[in-house]
Amino acid sequence: MSVKVLLIGNGAREHAIAKKVVENGGSLYSFMSRENPGIADLSKKFSIGNLTRFDMLKKYRKVDFAIVGPENPLSSGITNYLEDKLKIPTCGPRKEVAKIESSKIFTRYLIDAYDIPGNVPYTICRSIEDLEDAIQEFGLEIVIKPDGLTGGKGVRVHGDHFTCFKGAKNYAKQLLTQDNEFLVEEKIKGKEFSLQVFTDGKTIIPMPLVRDYKRAYDEDKGPNTGSMGSYSLPTHDLPFLKKKDIRTALDILQKTVTALKKETGIEYRGILYGQFMKTNGKIHVIEFNVRFGDPEAINVLKLLESDFNEIAYQIINSDLKKASFANLATVCTYLVPKGYPVNPIENKTIEVDPSITSDLYYASVYRDKQDIKTTSSRAIALIETGLDLEEAKQKLNGSISKIKGELFYRNDIGVLL
Ligand code: AMP
Ligand code: GLY
Repeated sequence: MSVKVLLIGNGAREHAIAKKVVENGGSLYSFMSRENPGIADLSKKFSIGNLTRFDMLKKYRKVDFAIVGPENPLSSGITNYLEDKLKIPTCGPRKEVAKIESSKIFTRYLIDAYDIPGNVPYTICRSIEDLEDAIQEFGLEIVIKPDGLTGGKGVRVHGDHFTCFKGAKNYAKQLLTQDNEFLVEEKIKGKEFSLQVFTDGKTIIPMPLVRDYKRAYDEDKGPNTGSMGSYSLPTHDLPFLKKKDIRTALDILQKTVTALKKETGIEYRGILYGQFMKTNGKIHVIEFNVRFGDPEAINVLKLLESDFNEIAYQIINSDLKKASFANLATVCTYLVPKGYPVNPIENKTIEVDPSITSDLYYASVYRDKQDIKTTSSRAIALIETGLDLEEAKQKLNGSISKIKGELFYRNDIGVLL
């Protein structure tokens, strides 16, 4: 579809969106907080600025619509600004409904209030006494969460981040200096999965299920990261899920979209991404995200056969019809600076052999004359498809060997299922 598209964001997820927009006939205009060399090369025009500096978007009034990649500008109301002030239709929810990611307390309330399945036992704490009561109720196996956005870094899980009451209390005290409330949830044990849907506020269209790997090292060891990679299957399901589990997760997402409209009066238009966990045969909501997953976007956009620009247009016009995805396996792996995430080695050159055939997306790198260099964050995402995971993985390994630099990656993406 030949349209002018404004894209907000600059990670590997947005690089994958940018590529799809252009592949599907769109002209790309980009607003980034830091120059992503891949997005810059695909753009007709781009600007660099803090993604909440909405006034910098005025020069893009002539685009047909906007697509917003990350959650921060959505939670700050970028869609409200684009639609109300600049009359640019936007694929990405308005602030009032983006609250489903920006307030974890609101999310737990909404699930309860609208009888949506999958809530985890939780309590809202406003004091250390409340934390003590929560521990009385759930035991020490809890998860402590600030209410707002923390870029994935605010959640503290028993066993990973604290092991005793003192540890929990110290974190709770810290949170109470920043806000007057925080959330305590019972710790759920099980396998996590990502289910992303396109939605125009009424209809939802599921994308293939994806499993991502958040830990830094093989066998799910080491510290949590933004994610080290992800896989999906040709059947669009996951080995540890039954059909009824997938139906439940979809039912949760559909009911959530409906509940958001009832609660706020506003239709949710964009991508809704449910992070779920299966425990003892039951599906639990870990959290909702108001955007594509990173890297899950890379898996599903690689498989998308329908015109992405057309889907975004249908979402904006509340006229979502259908989307089809290829029946192939995908494996996506992040190459990250050595030492990431604790002590990453920055400013090192990455050399990519031009004979590489896998799709390559830049995450957090910068261009220094002709060189691409690392920062302290993830550097490059690579994706491959195959008739099965083994084939995708084998092709991917061939490409990884063509990238040189002070980098490491996980070997077991798509192997440890
Ligand atoms: P969130 O930012 O809410 O996605 O949480 C970050 C990570 O913490 C999740 O991906 C889970 O691995 C873990 N987590 C969050 N909530 C829970 C929970 N109630 N039980 C177990 N693990 C959780
Ligand atoms: N894959 C995790 C996220 O996008 O939040």
